[in-house]
Amino acid sequence: MRLKDKVAIITGAAQGIGAATALRFAAEGADLSLCDLNAGRLEEVAARVRDQGRRCLTLVGSVSDRAFVQDLVDRTRSELGGLDILVNNAGIIRDAIGHKLTEEQWDQVIDVNLKGAFNCLQACMIPMREQGSGAIVNLSSVSRYGAVGQFNYAASKAGVVGLTRAAAKELGGRGVRVNCVAPGFVATEMLATVPEAKLEMFKNFAVPMARLGQPEEIASVILFLASDDASFVNGQTINVDGGAYTQ
Ligand SMILES: NC(=O)c1ccc[n+]([C@@H]2O[C@H](COP(=O)([O-])OP(=O)(O)OC[C@H]3O[C@@H](n4cnc5c(N)ncnc54)[C@H](O)[C@@H]3O)[C@@H](O)[C@H]2O)c1
Repeated sequence: MRLKDKVAIITGAAQGIGAATALRFAAEGADLSLCDLNAGRLEEVAARVRDQGRRCLTLVGSVSDRAFVQDLVDRTRSELGGLDILVNNAGIIRDAIGHKLTEEQWDQVIDVNLKGAFNCLQACMIPMREQGSGAIVNLSSVSRYGAVGQFNYAASKAGVVGLTRAAAKELGGRGVRVNCVAPGFVATEMLATVPEAKLEMFKNFAVPMARLGQPEEIASVILFLASDDASFVNGQTINVDGGAYTQ
């Protein structure tokens, strides 16, 4: 077991990549603190974690709410007895072509994807640097290279890489590693609003492996970065995209 008795916070854990990561971490021996906006589905994931014999705390709220995030961290530490790993996974898309993108769509995406990641990272880094250990994994995206209809999302996910690198430099000397996973298109409900034709085009012409990724294939790279297998990996962003972006 690669995370035996570690305590991990995973945000946005009710479905998709966050849920797959929760189930994989539980299988690797971690106790979990899961948060999401969707209470019903979060409880379903928590039940599956507990079925694996692991402890699981659930908190319903938004990562963009700093008071909620502080409560998440405080309750994790007091009820699960520590904090070793943060997976900053919660994220949203609100796509629109540039000249039609509203201020609200811009603010929503930046608030969750970038400010939310910062809120969680900052609240976790304080106890982690005091204890001299910890691993933080942020979720970026290959959209950070720039994608049509995604001024807001691309900016937020490029921002997450900058946040990762700055935090890795500050915290590396304190025993806390900060890394990033950048998926390509992954088969989750996030893609529900992406036109089928766009997905088919991307899959068939841009991805050498000619298919979408599965949430479990992202979870396994998150697991690597969160575990001691990556003990000298810090400040890195790993694209997990079937080879679509090779730079
Ligand atoms: N699916 C993809 O193709 C893809 C590609 C690249 C990056 N990503 C990134 O991976 C992460 C997970 O994506 P996914 O595909 O599993 O998405 P998803 O939409 O299936 O799941 C996201 C989860 O986050 C939760 N969430 C949304 N806003 C929240 C908030 N403010 N506070 C707490 N929870 C919130 C949702 O309720 C949902 O359960 C995201 O950061 C996303 O940007 C996904």
